[in-house]
Amino acid sequence: MDYQNILFAVEDGIATITINRPKALNALNQATVSELKDVVEKVAADKAIKVVIITGAGAKSFVAGADIKEMASKNAAEGREWGQFGQNVFTEIENLPQPVIAAINGFALGGGCELSCACDIRYAAENAKFGQPEVGLGITPGFGGTQRLTRVVGRGHAKELIYTGGMIDAEKAKAIGLVNEVFPQEELMPAAVKLAKKIAKNAPIAVQLSKAAINRGINCDVVTGIAYEAEVFGLCFSTADQKEGMAAFCEKRKATFEGK
Ligand code: CAA
Repeated sequence: MDYQNILFAVEDGIATITINRPKALNALNQATVSELKDVVEKVAADKAIKVVIITGAGAKSFVAGADIKEMASKNAAEGREWGQFGQNVFTEIENLPQPVIAAINGFALGGGCELSCACDIRYAAENAKFGQPEVGLGITPGFGGTQRLTRVVGRGHAKELIYTGGMIDAEKAKAIGLVNEVFPQEELMPAAVKLAKKIAKNAPIAVQLSKAAINRGINCDVVTGIAYEAEVFGLCFSTADQKEGMAAFCEKRKATFEGK
């Protein structure tokens, strides 16, 4: 598939997906979400990719939401289908085996905030603005915002953001746990790459199983989550990386992991 609205690059096991419709502040239209689905499925199948970064083109916007102009004439059935399509693609992102870092370089509104919440870790530029403005357009959040934002920041902050449709800046987003760190715009991508490299140095299977256990635990009770953790913990002992990681510790040298 040739991408018109997405840039995709892989370097040293780190994939960068850039939403690239800067004239529309990287708003997500049908074509862009279809391309996102295609690239995410490629990434999922590529064992050489250890970490993924998702960002937006330009210095103004990460993603300013779903494309309002394209959505405006939809009827109820079409609206539901569009919502489910976006939800499914964001769930694919959430379930990618590799950790996903959102590098939020500006507006993260509506579907943009929802996209960031489908990622594992959020880093933001100082100019980033977050919000769920949907109720001001006569709709609810539709790409998972009522569910994932609530799980990230808790129901009080999520309800305030969603009911008011207002925006918060990066510092406030950090204060409520929506982003991990805030950087000057020019330092955002280097910081995201540095984080990705730090993650990529570790045993890939252990990182991926940790992600799977955390994600499963968020959606189930602690007893079920803990039982799953025991399974993945045990599974690690069948990997060459566990042998290498522990041998390296005992031999006082750096481990070299092969993802096996
Ligand atoms: N959809 C379509 N086009 C959009 C867009 C969107 N979500 N956001 C921005 N654009 C377009 C603008 O229409 C404009 O295009 P033209 O130059 O052709 O007029 C261009 O991007 C630049 O935008 P502005 O001139 O508005 O830039 P600004 O700096 O004055 O304002 C902004 C920036 C505050 C982000 C403003 O563009 C804005 O409010 N955008 C909409 C944000 C929004 O409501 N997002 C939620 C969408 S609904 C949703 O996402 C549902 C869901 O859950 C899936």
